[in-house]
Amino acid sequence: MTIDLDAFLSTGARGMRRSLIRELLKLTSRSGIISFAGGFPDPATFPVVELQEVTRDVLADQAHRALQYGITEGDPRLRDELVRWLGRDGIAVTRDQILVTNGSQQGLDILGKVFLDPGDVIIVELPSYLAALQVFRTYGAEMLGVPQDDEGMQTDRLADLLADLAAQGRRAKFIYVVPDFQNPSGVTWTEERRRHLLDLARRHNTLVVEDNPYRSVRFAGTAPPPVYALDRDGRTIYLSTFSKTLCPGLRIGWMVAAEEIIAQFVTAKQGMDLCSPSFTQAIAAELLHRDLLAPRLPGIAEVYRRKCDTMLRALQREMPAGVTWTRPEGGLFLWVRLPESMDTEALLREAVEREGVAYVIGTGFHADGGGRHAMRLNFSFPSEEEIEEGIRRLARLVKRHLPLSTPSTATRTQVSD
Ligand SMILES: Cc1ncc(COP(=O)(O)O)c(C=O)c1O
Repeated sequence: MTIDLDAFLSTGARGMRRSLIRELLKLTSRSGIISFAGGFPDPATFPVVELQEVTRDVLADQAHRALQYGITEGDPRLRDELVRWLGRDGIAVTRDQILVTNGSQQGLDILGKVFLDPGDVIIVELPSYLAALQVFRTYGAEMLGVPQDDEGMQTDRLADLLADLAAQGRRAKFIYVVPDFQNPSGVTWTEERRRHLLDLARRHNTLVVEDNPYRSVRFAGTAPPPVYALDRDGRTIYLSTFSKTLCPGLRIGWMVAAEEIIAQFVTAKQGMDLCSPSFTQAIAAELLHRDLLAPRLPGIAEVYRRKCDTMLRALQREMPAGVTWTRPEGGLFLWVRLPESMDTEALLREAVEREGVAYVIGTGFHADGGGRHAMRLNFSFPSEEEIEEGIRRLARLVKRHLPLSTPSTATRTQVSD
């Protein structure tokens, strides 16, 4: 290329960093590599037969509607089904409080477009979802992080941060949280932390963004209520998706909020794509209408419970003292911490090229540049045999680089420091 592309790019685009995960996925497509790096669901969970049947019927009975442009808000029939779907989790809303999006990822971009000016402060967890950080960075947000432990964000530290901001005459636009089986850590917030978050948000008059793609993939323990369901004053915006329960290929996600907020989101989405695909929305609506999704959830959770257990047992068996990890009750990921002096980025090339195993480095998930000694492991996509072998390879790498003296009493609770 002969042009100087940089001279043409917007400030936001110049600040964009290529997705670490996508870069890695390219590296790991070579045969023989066991990848714990992606975030793909297990394709065995896709309802292929049900989708064949429903797609055929949608084309036979609703083609005039399903192949036409739709309204930006989303297929009214799908939104009515989503009202019922959300009711299962104690989220009581009307159709007009829902906007259908192209996956919940589009919802994150809409948030940036609607709420963020360059220099605006937002608060995120340490660690937090990499692709959300990328979006918010593109809109020029200043991201301040609050560490997690095994009960969720440390909300007493959030209280300190909000007080510091207030003392400087500043306010966070929103607090972004993934409270159920977080990507990347697998941690679930306790109900107490959820209530404390809302209490602080109310006191400091900020919004809460609850990104919740994994909630229906619970394989152990009991579910605390969604933050949205605990919120009494309409300051929470809820995002979810069918990517992990139905399939990501349909690209069906949704945002839930007060009607005035949704109206603002609709205007932002109009400029992006006019509407989400009518066809996939009609298929999802029909699938829900025939109640073909909910009965599948226990089976999907069981697949991931087995895979997660296999990974936990392999870690226990293979990893040396000084390595710790989280124990998720659902979702697709767990979080491994090596001794502090180790650097997962420095080890990655050797992991892939010598051992044939891949992971995502911890720094990608840290708004403050931390997480050098941490890594995210995905257990949903590899087979159980690959999980066993992959952890064996990873442990071999770690042992080769282990510092001579490592504490054997390291705690397993702290996710980030
Ligand atoms: C926390 C979180 N938010 C949003 C998304 C985006 O999901 P999708 O756009 O497929 O709905 C993901 C996907 O992995 C995620 O982990």
